Amino acid sequence: MPQPTDTTAPRESFGPTAPPDPAGALAENGLELRPVPSPWEAGLADPEAPFDLARRWDDAPAVRRHTAVLQRNFHEVGDPELRLADRFIGVEQGDRRRLVGVYPEGADPDAVDPVGTLVDFTKDLNVGAGRLLPAWCISEVTVSPTHRRRGILRAMMSDSLRRAREAGVPIAALTATEATIYRRFGFGVSTYYRSVWLDVTRGIQLRGARPEGGFRFIEPTTSGELIEGLWRRAFEGQLGSVERIRFHAAKETDRDPRMDEGRPQGLRGVVFSGPDGTDRGVAVYRVTGETSELVADEPVTATVVALWAADAEAYRALLEFLGNLDLVVRLRLPPVPNDRMLEFLVRDESRIYTRGVHHHLWHRILDVAACFEARPYLHDGAVTVTVEDDLGHAAGTWEISAADGRGRVRPADEDQAELTLDVAELGSVLLGGVQAEVMREAGILREHRPGAATDLDTLLRQPRLPFALTGF
Ligand SMILES: CC(C)(COP(=O)(O)OP(=O)(O)OC[C@H]1O[C@@H](n2cnc3c(N)ncnc32)[C@H](O)[C@@H]1OP(=O)(O)O)[C@@H](O)C(=O)NCCC(=O)NCCS
Repeated sequence: MPQPTDTTAPRESFGPTAPPDPAGALAENGLELRPVPSPWEAGLADPEAPFDLARRWDDAPAVRRHTAVLQRNFHEVGDPELRLADRFIGVEQGDRRRLVGVYPEGADPDAVDPVGTLVDFTKDLNVGAGRLLPAWCISEVTVSPTHRRRGILRAMMSDSLRRAREAGVPIAALTATEATIYRRFGFGVSTYYRSVWLDVTRGIQLRGARPEGGFRFIEPTTSGELIEGLWRRAFEGQLGSVERIRFHAAKETDRDPRMDEGRPQGLRGVVFSGPDGTDRGVAVYRVTGETSELVADEPVTATVVALWAADAEAYRALLEFLGNLDLVVRLRLPPVPNDRMLEFLVRDESRIYTRGVHHHLWHRILDVAACFEARPYLHDGAVTVTVEDDLGHAAGTWEISAADGRGRVRPADEDQAELTLDVAELGSVLLGGVQAEVMREAGILREHRPGAATDLDTLLRQPRLPFALTGF
């Protein structure tokens, strides 16, 4: 049921009460937070160098320990000789990762395991119309089960967001294994994805005209540059995407550090080229399974590891190709946007099976003006919002306006506010993927002028839903 607009409501906080002092909480437990210089920061590695899955990182013992501990906290298989850790370092240091650990006070990170880990790095975020905004990506957030619920997460997160702000990066982003952890730090869901598989028994037919062009097979292990180029074109056209991390590039070129010591697994690659011979899309996939019975335990399945298309026609062409592989009865696609596109593409939509719709990118706005002025606008208008932020970064009252496609943000007086919302909700609406009006009905933001939430939605609408091609 829609809730009535409360024009007299006081502008009180919706969030938790003021947080405790994070560094103080660590000290009380005999712990401290320490940066762990990653190999590229320590001058041990060139981040531009190709993946090196063979190198042993004896010269970076603290990084090795940090990597092995976070893998243990994520329940990866045991790694007594640190070979898995080494392979990951060989791939990931190219992301220019910044590592932070929490250690017993005075401990030597070369010799002692951290009890908390966090990694951050900066990548571009596509905020629409191909415009890119630097995003502070936070990952590998773990706390050892021996030290949980002592404020370690809070200390690491507060420190990372403070460094982001100091570095002038306007937004932080993460993907979450659990949905209940990060809102308290100001993160709100910005994009969702749908995981699907298709029944492709005897092939599928698409609606719409068949794209002109041709296909050729490529060898993924030697096609890194080609795949990278098509990835970049897909990324630049995809509102809501973050530049992909090197782990994905390793997987797509059949060098997954988790599989058989990083040895190729026999992935297939196929490229679609337009009538003029220009490459416009690539798919990397593997075929597994034993029987053409869809209901059997192991039906023959094509699992698509990557599908990067420079334009909608190339996506259609590759979907048709993959949906018509002889002998294959099931097609597992990489995540798709949570819209109706697949249903419009495939002639018989009853052959599409949705395994789930999941939250994907979470955004944490650090600089309101930089974020809202970076994105494009379809509609002119203005809405004044009061933003609550326990950590302070985005707190204030802001008039967000747009004219001729350009956004403008300026501070306003609190009594001019038409809406009050938490910074987490502001992160959710930034790219137009989540509606303020729905959140108003849910009672998690408050209107002071009837219609203000709908006006904010109109102002922030984009031509398509934001969608992140990859996570991290
Ligand atoms: C999730 C994890 C990082 C929490 O670390 P922690 O040091 O125990 O957390 P803190 O003590 O700093 O807690 C900070 C706040 O988060 C809350 N919180 C912590 N873990 C939570 C969880 N799993 N679900 C919901 N809330 C959680 C705490 O209650 C506390 O809330 P408050 O500040 O409002 O009182 C840790 O349990 C862990 O490593 N889990 C396994 C790996 C993982 O899931 N990582 C997250 C990847 S996205």
